[in-house]
Amino acid sequence: MRIEKQRYTERFGSIKINDVQKVLELDSGRWADLPLKEEIAVVKIEEDVIKHFEEKMAIVIPIKNEKLKLFEGVISGVPHECLIIVISNSERKEADRFNMERDTLEQFCHFTQRQALIIHQKDPVIAQALAQAGYTDLLNKGGKVVRDGKSEGMVIGLLVAMLAQKEYVGFVDADNYFPGAVWEYVKCYATGFSISQSPYTMVRILWRYKPKVSGEIYFRKWGRVSETTNKCLNSLISAKTGFETDIIKTANAGEHAASVKLAKILPYASGYAVEPQELISLCEDFGGVLPTTNQKVAKYGIEIFQIESRNPHFHEERGTVHLQEMLLQGLGTVYHSSLCDEETKQMIVKELLAQRALKRGEEPAKPHINRPPSKININSFSNLMAEHLDSYSALKK
Ligand code: GDP
Ligand code: CO
Repeated sequence: MRIEKQRYTERFGSIKINDVQKVLELDSGRWADLPLKEEIAVVKIEEDVIKHFEEKMAIVIPIKNEKLKLFEGVISGVPHECLIIVISNSERKEADRFNMERDTLEQFCHFTQRQALIIHQKDPVIAQALAQAGYTDLLNKGGKVVRDGKSEGMVIGLLVAMLAQKEYVGFVDADNYFPGAVWEYVKCYATGFSISQSPYTMVRILWRYKPKVSGEIYFRKWGRVSETTNKCLNSLISAKTGFETDIIKTANAGEHAASVKLAKILPYASGYAVEPQELISLCEDFGGVLPTTNQKVAKYGIEIFQIESRNPHFHEERGTVHLQEMLLQGLGTVYHSSLCDEETKQMIVKELLAQRALKRGEEPAKPHINRPPSKININSFSNLMAEHLDSYSALKK
């Protein structure tokens, strides 16, 4: 793969946020001995290097009642060396959707001879293992069942990736229409990790186009929700540094990945607030404004890449209410951050009112935030889970 070199980087305390880097070439050809003429502006990442990172990467797919055909396409796009971890919150009533997903994955793993794990979010073993590890954040009030939510699914996926001793974890939504896009996202993750200077690193995908179908296809550059969330997050940063910035372009990136070292020290907000919250938490913990609790990480620094993929992002459209919900939850995390200034708060309320996600006089709700997985007793979680791992495995012996 060939991508643009980091040309512009903003620093916020110990965080380095790289401006968008475009993919130039999906396949960059054979390994070359000669120095590259284009090196000043372009990075070429060799196939072998990409594979090396894929081997160390788990791809977590959160899924809830998606069309089976979409799921089938998504798994076919995940490069072979990655471990697939599916965390499903699909229905298990008359039509047991989870069973269908598991069948599909098992058949795929059988014919491709690769390893994958699939777990239902409401599996009592998970709840028990979480309770045992002292991570009741993910459980509902009674403490017996894992809460609903994509974010909760992601965290379970991350814990399972840690159990499988992976060094990197990437997230891919199950409602992607193009397997080729999924394939490219994972290549971008590997690429970002390969050029990172820090072991604490994150890659967030920016879609080149997000087409909308209404009569004929229109290739929109960005979604409205992302635009607004980016604007408010940038306003928060600008207010703190005193220099206006538009560096954040991936506040809502569902497609993103991180080194496990970084992923496990991040808190995870519930539902759709999760992606912007990751950035907010980094700014709070390592932005240099509030005291840093983790000196070691601050010393290495945190590196964030925003990589623009070539494939258009095409996924299930869920209507206005879903978009309002996403916006409300995402902006709620910015609004309630201890870094958020009065002006940004006003901007958030104004945006939410304009997009009818909030009524006059209301303020966005404070998100439920799950503590960083590093805070829990991971051994205790792993011990119980390890006993059941065979039953979650999709490749039968
Ligand atoms: P959007 O793409 O950000 O608009 O959000 P989606 O509604 O498409 O959700 C993103 C991904 O999370 C999809 O693959 C969903 O199937 C999945 N998802 C949604 N809710 C849940 C949940 O409660 N648990 C799990 N495990 N996955 C979920
Ligand atoms: Co989606």
